[in-house]
Amino acid sequence: MSTKDTVLALFEKNKGFFISGERIAQELDISRTAVWKAVKKLQSEGYQIKAVTNRGYCLDKESDVLTVRGIRSYLDDGCKELRPEVFVRVDSTNTKCVEKAEAGEPEGYVAVAGSQSAGRGRRGKAFFSPAESGIYMSILLRPEGLTENQVLHFTTMAAAAVSEAIEAVSDKKADIKWVNDIFINGKKVCGILSEASYGVLTGKLEYVIVGIGINAYEPAGGFPESIAEIAGCVFDEPAAGLKNRLAAEVLNRFMVYYRHLPDTPYSDEYIKRSMVTGKDVTVHKNKEKLKAHVLGIDEEFGLKVRYEDGSVEVLRSGEISIRI
Ligand code: BTN
Repeated sequence: MSTKDTVLALFEKNKGFFISGERIAQELDISRTAVWKAVKKLQSEGYQIKAVTNRGYCLDKESDVLTVRGIRSYLDDGCKELRPEVFVRVDSTNTKCVEKAEAGEPEGYVAVAGSQSAGRGRRGKAFFSPAESGIYMSILLRPEGLTENQVLHFTTMAAAAVSEAIEAVSDKKADIKWVNDIFINGKKVCGILSEASYGVLTGKLEYVIVGIGINAYEPAGGFPESIAEIAGCVFDEPAAGLKNRLAAEVLNRFMVYYRHLPDTPYSDEYIKRSMVTGKDVTVHKNKEKLKAHVLGIDEEFGLKVRYEDGSVEVLRSGEISIRI
């Protein structure tokens, strides 16, 4: 274990209590300068460590920072082969995974970040990814023998996995807005962006990246005006370990579904959470906006809608908004 990790382990044992630099140095048999350096490093990673003259250092009881160790501690045995790497800040965890994949990284790598400078959303939109309040993560997979249609299931599998994980870790009910947005009480708390790469010459699926962005807490300073009306968060109050636990629970559930492909039994979980079934929506088709009524979701996760002229269509992809 590195000095930083041993200092952190001691802080975690004494969470909420002050320990002097001298005591830390003695207990760990390191210099006080090494303690100070480790504290600075931990603070730069987002750990809320107070430093008070004559009292020492104290790790905030509610400090909730994404760490490899924290995520691993909540992973099921069946997920121990996953390799999470945690970054304080990256441009985009999806981009990080693409770079890894192109360099030959095997499946199971998970890029996790505390914030993103260029978080990517669907349809080329930016994804707001501020520090401390969110979980931004991307899973690299190299599935074999799947049809192109089955690859489309990664997004819906992730939506079901995130919804279940939210419900396991919080007291909130998660709804899915077709195709891949997760809502709590009418506010979007999670977006999912899956990307697949096929060999230019072979046409063979090389890898899939499933990117998941969750608003765990309300960001300091609130959400930007452009999304303030629609965005929400999973937890009302910060508490130690919540983000690590939620990230791990998403991975646990997603990997169960992934391993059972192509016969994954998750459609019930998905369909029962659909918040658009029976609702009037606006379908965004190219530049057109069409009013429609949602009749349901089929086994292939297509959205069955009836337009105002009475015609019925099953949408396989696209964007809808709910009419209030
Ligand atoms: C959307 O709602 O439009 C999809 C948003 C997906 C955001 C996640 S955050 C982790 C991963 N990295 C990215 O750059 N995007 C995805």
